[in-house]
Amino acid sequence: MNTESIGFERSHSDANVSVQRILLSSLKSNLRMLPNIDASDCFFWDAGFFGLNQVQHFQEATPEEQRQILQIANRYLLEEMYCVEQAGMDYMNKMFLLAETCEERMLYSLFAADEATHLAQVLLFVGTEPILSGGIFSRFLSEVIEISDKAALMAVVQVVLEGWGLSHYRSLAKACLNPSLRQVLQGFLQAESRHHAAGVIQLRQFEPSPKSLQVIHGVLTQFLQMVQIGPQYLVSAIDRVKGILSQADRIQILQELQTEIYSSTRLQLLRSLMNGNIPNSVLDKLEEQGSFQPYPACMTQDS
Ligand SMILES: [Fe+2]
Ligand SMILES: [Fe+2]
Repeated sequence: MNTESIGFERSHSDANVSVQRILLSSLKSNLRMLPNIDASDCFFWDAGFFGLNQVQHFQEATPEEQRQILQIANRYLLEEMYCVEQAGMDYMNKMFLLAETCEERMLYSLFAADEATHLAQVLLFVGTEPILSGGIFSRFLSEVIEISDKAALMAVVQVVLEGWGLSHYRSLAKACLNPSLRQVLQGFLQAESRHHAAGVIQLRQFEPSPKSLQVIHGVLTQFLQMVQIGPQYLVSAIDRVKGILSQADRIQILQELQTEIYSSTRLQLLRSLMNGNIPNSVLDKLEEQGSFQPYPACMTQDS
């Protein structure tokens, strides 16, 4: 993903400064309050949330190394939220352009405003540090938004990813140590659930073409693969702080993180989310090819 183009606050031309001022005042009137938060040295989720307290490399690290590993893991989740909300906003604006009725355009205008508001709220916690996350999920999202098939776009983004985002935000909110961020995340839930439900209802009106089914299958295979490989970002966080890890170390870390249980829970949730909401033929194919089976730690160390 091109990090240069992310975020309205990252360009400092004069023209942008005046747009920023108007944007800020519009957001303030929308949100009523937009607190100033210094998130530069803040932990939002602790080692227990990530499962790092079960990892020997983490247990044996110095307090400073532990702090750095946690900081990278926290930052990863914040940046991921940022990318999700940005993709959400892009998606809603794209659906506005693809809408066939005035009501549909109105609906996607409102949804786009929800996502723009979420993005602004997440930015308060991301701060002004550059977004570094070239994570595979962020890259995947930016590619998904490029899909031109409306039924496929709706099935993948609004039905699956929004539904998934809803449960992800719920668990992030529940474990969040910072009351302001917890409140913000809880505030997302109602809108995200509305976005997901609207996608489910609208998709029922479509009879996806064989081409759409093919696209849905391909994109969901790719998405499930990212869940199958487990929490690789935590291995990378340890690797960055402790120095280059051997393959055996990586496998051990993933085993200690209980990667198979971690991924299996998420894959089951995704299967129940897809069941009845995406075409059966696609779900059967995903099932047959083993997309809902987590990879064992020894298969994912190179990912
Ligand atoms: Fe959102
Ligand atoms: Fe959303």
